[in-house]
Amino acid sequence: MTDLDEIKSKIDLVDFIGRYLPLKKAGTNYKGLCPFHVEKTPSFMVSSDKQIWHCFGCGRGGDVFKFVMEKEGIGFAEALQLLAEQTGVQLSKVPQSGIDARKTLMNINEVAAKFYEKVLVETNEGRAAKEYMVGRGLTPATLAEFRIGFAPKSGRALIDFLVRKGAKEGDIEKAGLAVRKGNFLRDKFAGRVMFPLWDSLGRVVAFTGRVLDPNGIPKYLNSPETPLFHKSELLYGLHLAKQSIQQEGRVVLVEGQMDTISSHQAGVKNVVGISGTALTEQQLQLLNRYCRELVLSLDADAAGGEATRRALELSNKFDMAMKVVLLGAYKDPDSMIKENPEYWKKAVAEAVPVMDFYFDIAVHRYDVKKLEDKKQLTRELLAVINKLTDPVEKDFYIKRLSRTVDVEPAILYDTLKRAPQPVKTESKAIPTKVEDLSPTWLEERAVMLPMLSPKLIPQLLEVGDRIKWASGLANTIYDAIQSWYTANAVLQPEDFLKRLPEPVKTSALELLLVLEQNYTEVSVEDLEREMKFYLDLLVNRSATIKRNELASAIAEAETKNDQVRVAELLKELNQL
Ligand code: UTP
Ligand code: MN
Repeated sequence: MTDLDEIKSKIDLVDFIGRYLPLKKAGTNYKGLCPFHVEKTPSFMVSSDKQIWHCFGCGRGGDVFKFVMEKEGIGFAEALQLLAEQTGVQLSKVPQSGIDARKTLMNINEVAAKFYEKVLVETNEGRAAKEYMVGRGLTPATLAEFRIGFAPKSGRALIDFLVRKGAKEGDIEKAGLAVRKGNFLRDKFAGRVMFPLWDSLGRVVAFTGRVLDPNGIPKYLNSPETPLFHKSELLYGLHLAKQSIQQEGRVVLVEGQMDTISSHQAGVKNVVGISGTALTEQQLQLLNRYCRELVLSLDADAAGGEATRRALELSNKFDMAMKVVLLGAYKDPDSMIKENPEYWKKAVAEAVPVMDFYFDIAVHRYDVKKLEDKKQLTRELLAVINKLTDPVEKDFYIKRLSRTVDVEPAILYDTLKRAPQPVKTESKAIPTKVEDLSPTWLEERAVMLPMLSPKLIPQLLEVGDRIKWASGLANTIYDAIQSWYTANAVLQPEDFLKRLPEPVKTSALELLLVLEQNYTEVSVEDLEREMKFYLDLLVNRSATIKRNELASAIAEAETKNDQVRVAELLKELNQL
């Protein structure tokens, strides 16, 4: 038995998923509201006998590993580790030393976080920091939830504490908590309010520390990059926000730690911080697993405008919708919340399309009564209007700009015409529904329908060799059916499926779950008709591909004047 099988054998998927969301028995399966997209009626299904889940609304599905990957936003290797730990299975193939090294660093970070927290709550030095944070409007409960701490000024307090707890100095340095000055190791953070930074599972991977002195530099000091911490991939507070992000179907992005924390305290919990950097592709990839809509709340300054432009491009690439929160005269969400938490709730609820945000910041930044300002503002807004692809939308904003700057729309149109036209970039759409007639989809049905009734197998084998498989999965299943059937002359779907290798088995079982739902109470005759429909489509499609290939081969042979080859190819073409 492989590690994977062993882990699976120790988990009951219905129990496991049942801990995340309520499941109700429906026939032989269980149903619930999909945790991966917003829905009012349950289309998320878990099969107890197959140990497979599938959502008929968004098309996601798989085994327990896939569930953990989607739910926690982690990769396969991490899901494997996590489930191995939970089930007590000793992994054989994973480089144990690499994991141990990561664990050591994680432990050090965790102990350090506890240390800083204790200093904040229990020491005289910490009291000033605590008062500072309370003065900024945070409650003790919020401070505890975000594990706010304080790093003592004495240069080695943390190192000494960690060494007493058994840590090696070299590991403390690797964790980014100590810096070497000549021969001496000193605490990296001293005299700062400490914010632990977590990965998406809530493990402390780094810190950022804020000065208390208003003139201190830098205002926030971050841990260096370590094996655990890659700044460009981190989203501050994600583990506290992810449930709410999934429920709301959207995520609010803010710049700072304080913005994130205040927003949580104000009751807007689907919020994460990007730590003052530009939004990265990795961050968006992570968020894309939880929701389809971004709500940006970046500073309303020039840098915020630029960051918004970048975010817009990225969100297009991931096919995510994007809106922007207008902060009006407030510098950032934190200061708005400090004034009145209700303002923030309202601003988030009333987030506007990106174009409105550009108008808002431009109008705040320029004085349209001055000619130079008017020209600059027009140039800036035309540049973004030019990027719009919908002509009606374009016209709408041209007219709005015309009113804003008091310039005839015709003149604006004329300026726009002389600007370079935007190139339409292909958006990488993520399919949300399985129900399209793509060849892959057809092929996968065609090879799995016989699992509902083995009577269909001869029908499949009769034409299967004429199909040019587009789906690697379907092709593998087809080959397996063919060799099994040739060897045994019968095929019991259950026996057959059990023996498929992973990951084919999991995908096949998920397909079967879908087909069982689609074809309940369908007679064998109707199944045969359905099968014929799929196979005809596939055979015709493959023939067309073959014909096109032959046609271009003939054309090529003709340019080379190779008459023998042309005759051969023509013969082949006629036989199709
Ligand atoms: P800001 O300068 O807007 O800080 O930087 P802030 O969030 O309003 O902080 P407070 O309210 O004064 O405490 C936004 C974010 O940029 C990162 C931090 O993550 C900060 O939250 N930053 C800022 C740094 O990493 N280093 C710095 O020196 C400053
Ligand atoms: Mn602030």
